[in-house]
Amino acid sequence: MLLSNPISTHLPHTPLTLKPIPLHHHRNVIVFSQLQPIPITTPISISDESLNSKGFNLHRSMTNLNLNHLNSVFVAVGFPRRDTDKIQLALENTDSLVWIEYEKTKKPVAFARATGDGVFNAIIWDVVVDPNFQGIGLGKAVMERLITELLRKGITNIVLYSEPRVLGFYRPLGFVADPDGIRGMVYSRKKKKNR
Ligand SMILES: CC(C)(COP(=O)(O)OP(=O)(O)OC[C@H]1O[C@@H](n2cnc3c(N)ncnc32)[C@H](O)[C@@H]1OP(=O)(O)O)[C@@H](O)C(=O)NCCC(=O)NCCS
Repeated sequence: MLLSNPISTHLPHTPLTLKPIPLHHHRNVIVFSQLQPIPITTPISISDESLNSKGFNLHRSMTNLNLNHLNSVFVAVGFPRRDTDKIQLALENTDSLVWIEYEKTKKPVAFARATGDGVFNAIIWDVVVDPNFQGIGLGKAVMERLITELLRKGITNIVLYSEPRVLGFYRPLGFVADPDGIRGMVYSRKKKKNR
């Protein structure tokens, strides 16, 4: 998905015109995030204070993030278990990340991160919510904050890969699939039989 409409923010570079960028992924639909003209502070559906009052702490860095616990959340939602050292490296190379800790267990229950060039483009990865905590607004909470952080940095071309069943989660956040007919492509290591 991509955010790709003209975007107006309160940033010095505004108004900005977003160019849709194709995304690619196996199984997934590439979604282009088309941010409608929005103020740089995107609406936040649940405040940090409100999250705190419900026993959740918001974090924006890897500090205190237990990667084994994060890996378990990935596995719980069906992602393959990955080498924790590689996750560590990937997160160190990540530009922005947001995660929510459940105060009672000190474990991560919601997570999202973005990589990119720090100026024009960002790709969002690993959007997950622990199945025991889904459906109570935590996914939206991390996504809203991640998008706001990217926009604050002046990054307006924001893309992600979406499982077809999750398109409805991303759309209200401003993402659209295949804007202007642009399609994503993924490099495939499968044997190329039919060209
Ligand atoms: C997709 C996921 C991140 C959503 O997180 P969540 O915390 O359960 O979602 P929220 O409670 O924040 O829901 C926010 C809104 O999106 C809607 N929504 C959530 N999942 C949805 C889905 N799969 N399809 C359509 N709408 C969805 C909710 O109804 C809610 O709507 P509302 O704002 O009108 O009340 C979470 O279900 C998850 O981790 N799924 C498994 C991993 C996954 O598929 N990640 C995405 C990879 S592409």
